[in-house]
Amino acid sequence: MNEHLTQKFTRGNLSVIACDSGKPFAERIVQELNRIAKDEAENVVQRLKNTKDIAFPNGEIKVVVEENIRGDDIYIVQAFDDPLSPNSVNDNLMALLTAVHACHQSDADHITVVIPQFPYSRQERRKTREAITAKLVCGMIEMAGAKRAITLDIHAEAIQGFFNFAKLEDLHASSVFIDYLNHIFRVDPTRMVVTSPDVGSAERARHYSKVFGADLAIVDKARDDKAVSGIESMRLVGKVKDKEVLLVDDMIATGGTLINALKLLKTKGAEKTVVLASLPFFTGNCVDKLNKAYEEGLLDVVVGTDAVFHGKEFLDATPWYEEVSVAPLFAKVIHNINQKRSVSKLLK
Ligand code: R5P
Repeated sequence: MNEHLTQKFTRGNLSVIACDSGKPFAERIVQELNRIAKDEAENVVQRLKNTKDIAFPNGEIKVVVEENIRGDDIYIVQAFDDPLSPNSVNDNLMALLTAVHACHQSDADHITVVIPQFPYSRQERRKTREAITAKLVCGMIEMAGAKRAITLDIHAEAIQGFFNFAKLEDLHASSVFIDYLNHIFRVDPTRMVVTSPDVGSAERARHYSKVFGADLAIVDKARDDKAVSGIESMRLVGKVKDKEVLLVDDMIATGGTLINALKLLKTKGAEKTVVLASLPFFTGNCVDKLNKAYEEGLLDVVVGTDAVFHGKEFLDATPWYEEVSVAPLFAKVIHNINQKRSVSKLLK
């Protein structure tokens, strides 16, 4: 097709780049973009454009874009809690900001950050003399030059209102998880109780309970904010005795919330527990804790997404962990944005 006509129906040349921690997920998105292009008989082949993350001896970081991106509709993929990297969330956030600004300086037309995890999303409201850091992060992303962010099951939906002009598309892993449960687990709704490990995830759990026509239970968790993942108390609202529990959360970090919920569910008579976590970070000694929980029969399986990259070795060695891919969903949304098509159905 004539280049001028193509431009009219798209936002221009679609380019994908990634900071180091975002590369594994970015590669999967690119594969899916190529699959979509093939299905739609489009004559374009995507590849991840070359970039370099550079770390200086004093800890400063920069990302250099090594190819021309002038006029492009560019998507920058980054992961923050990266289990396979020594870099901190802050290092990875800084890398993203420098990548965004590099694209802005290189005259990309549209800049979107693809960040399944929104860093600092659990710091979205003030309880005492402290920052609302999620809002600061929105400001930094905008100031660097991004006009849109794509996230996965963001911890607090209110964060979309923290941007001044950038748009936020929050995708949900639920459709992928539900497909998996229907085909692999062949769930029996009469035996299942969908449970959220805290009140914050209750809305998410309600969605699954409606889809499966299953009962709902909620763990009411009170937190001690002074401690790291310190939980004061937990009580269960609802019944799980002799049931298969589907425990739904947005993320597993230290595993504190999950382990406490698992213990409570066991004491209340749950027979089997399947955990769904959109962002399975497994921070610190979380894997050891979950190994133990599995050995003690507190846990049957954790299903996470490939938005957090654990690598083949971990997948092969971890009997309680299953991974589903949200890359096709991200690729479809990116493709539709680039083609100026609707994405609303994909956000459900
Ligand atoms: C809490 O509100 C979240 O939904 C997660 O349950 C929590 O942040 C997970 O953190 P951790 O694994 O450290 O308890």
